[in-house]
Amino acid sequence: MIIAVDGPAASGKGTIARALARHYGLPHLDTGLLYRAVAATVLREELDPEKEADAVASCGFPDSLLDDPQLRTDDIGKVASVVSAHPLVRAALLQRQRRFAQQPGGAVLDGRDIGTVIAPDADVKLFVKATPTIRAQRRHAELRKAGQNVSLDRVLADIRARDDRDARRTQAPLRQADDALALDTSFLSIEAAVQRAISLVDTRL
Ligand code: C5P
Repeated sequence: MIIAVDGPAASGKGTIARALARHYGLPHLDTGLLYRAVAATVLREELDPEKEADAVASCGFPDSLLDDPQLRTDDIGKVASVVSAHPLVRAALLQRQRRFAQQPGGAVLDGRDIGTVIAPDADVKLFVKATPTIRAQRRHAELRKAGQNVSLDRVLADIRARDDRDARRTQAPLRQADDALALDTSFLSIEAAVQRAISLVDTRL
């Protein structure tokens, strides 16, 4: 069984994908980490994320980099959304994601284009969303907890800029697949969102 979970930043898709993987006993890949690893490599090598050739040269990162907690910072997320707009970067990361999706027994993948590009034949596709304000509030609370002092307005502006870049790029833009089930987490607790996701997946089994 392949479960595709797509949605914008801070929608709850990562939490939901991890919970689904645990519930159904499937391996999970957070595909955003691949783009974040490219971004971190570009920055480490002092290359230019806007240049496609520089970003492509950074796609050969080791698997061990995916475990680096530094990848999860907002700064890396911003650069990830720049490198992910290059078609050749997406092409370089495609097979790795497809291989993961097609392992025997199935998998859960979360990202922006799992249901549309990586696994268009997935058994279940969820599109997780929440209003930009609520996503900004969640991200803001996380940052505060991590000791980072940044204003809510700033976080909201960053979220809107990232949404815009992810939705407007020509290659694999963020969009809900025609056969995806929408899950709006705006007014749901984490537990309620996970329960709802499990119910939706169960309807497709
Ligand atoms: O989901 P996360 O915030 O970790 O993703 C970081 C960036 O990577 C996103 O803003 C998006 O531009 C890019 N991404 C993508 N396709 C995916 C996953 C992430 O373009 N499947």
